[in-house]
Amino acid sequence: MRLHITGGTLVTGAGAAPADLLCEDGRIAALLEPGQAVAADERLDASGLLVFPGFIDPHVHSRDPGITEKETFANSTAGALAGGLTTIFEMPNAVPPVTDAALFERRAREHGAVASVDFGLWGQALGEENLDDLGGIVEAGAVGIKLFWGYALDRATKRLVYTYADASPDEVIQPPKVGGVYAIVQRVAAAGGLFSAHCEERGVLAAAEATLPHGIVSYADLLTARPAIAEVAAVTAAGEFSLDSGCRFHVVHVSARRTVAAIAALQAAGAKITAEACAHYLVLTDADVERVGPAMKVYPPIRTADDQAALWDGLADGTLGTIASDHAPHAPAEKAKPLAEQPAGIHGVETLVPLVLDAMHRGRLRPEQVARLLSEQTAATFRVDHRKGRVRVGNDADFTLVDPARPWTIEQTKLHTLHPTSIFDGFSGHGAAVASVIRGELAMRDGEPVGAPRGALVRALPEERG
Ligand code: NCD
Ligand code: ZN
Repeated sequence: MRLHITGGTLVTGAGAAPADLLCEDGRIAALLEPGQAVAADERLDASGLLVFPGFIDPHVHSRDPGITEKETFANSTAGALAGGLTTIFEMPNAVPPVTDAALFERRAREHGAVASVDFGLWGQALGEENLDDLGGIVEAGAVGIKLFWGYALDRATKRLVYTYADASPDEVIQPPKVGGVYAIVQRVAAAGGLFSAHCEERGVLAAAEATLPHGIVSYADLLTARPAIAEVAAVTAAGEFSLDSGCRFHVVHVSARRTVAAIAALQAAGAKITAEACAHYLVLTDADVERVGPAMKVYPPIRTADDQAALWDGLADGTLGTIASDHAPHAPAEKAKPLAEQPAGIHGVETLVPLVLDAMHRGRLRPEQVARLLSEQTAATFRVDHRKGRVRVGNDADFTLVDPARPWTIEQTKLHTLHPTSIFDGFSGHGAAVASVIRGELAMRDGEPVGAPRGALVRALPEERG
């Protein structure tokens, strides 16, 4: 099957220029001069559109299996497709979580049956309980090993405990102490894997929360209970372990100015440290809680305008190399609870691409930066760039076609997630994905799927370790 994409402007990290593309049997077969004649089975007219390497969201929690009252993989990947993503990386914290190679393969089969976009899988570090299994998960092709550092885990299900004070100590696995994190990083380093952590150091969180005599009532209390220093402390410790061991270390959902500075310093020192911005920290600040209410609760919390400015600077200077959604759905009844009791996490997989494209429309990001932040650097960081995120002959023919001026308004009821709610409801902007190609086949047009779901697993390549 040969698909010919004609008339568009190809955007890569190197720049934008008119080009046609030939896809054959799922791969990129040729980059062609505009208008160059070629035999094909199907043609896709991209006139007036920007053709990006398929967009990747490296941070999605689909809760499936086991927590499907909150979300399913079929729903989250349908949303991903509608929004303009061609690949997502699925976080491991379902029930059971992906904690060994056999569970990795099982999860790949289960998700492969329902996926609307291609997907990579994260593995999960539990601390001492699965140290010996981490190498096998890396070898199987996990995009990374994730430690939920700021969270205790339910002992029976390994589910995240969002409100630690409510849990009885016998029923939870405590997050590892700093030495435990070192042990995990060493194992991941030995396997040539990527280590990532939810960076909020448990001891700092506990000390901060103890300063609130009445507990968490206001949003200001939430910011006091989860201060930037908890993030900085975790990033600095794990960053030094990365420097020491040579382990690749990826910081997810950076939320604070001081964290950006800590990451930049570690990068300058030679650590293999990469970092992620998320749309909600780039678009919202603590002031938005007036409009959104307690449902804005996410860990780490959305902070001040000054923190937000530092995140944009971090994207501009390259300290932060990817943008993700951290799609972390909960049921509406859970998100209607008071701030202290409700679980942390917000929807985002379907709104990521339009929010980033709106930043491009406003001139905050250049098109080639968008290609890097949503495709090229994401694929390189997680070592899937032998297939994804790069416009190169032989790579998967994944493309997101963008109308850079198309106006949009987010209507939460139209989202594909199981519980269609969004803290961006009513937002409007410009720039939208109008079609997607996944492995050489048209998969989405105007936000609607084309054909049946046919997403497949992509395995990351471990680094060679000498
Ligand atoms: C995430 C979740 O609910 O799975 N919640 C969140 O507030 N971000 C976990 C995480 O990424 O920390
Ligand atoms: Zn997290």
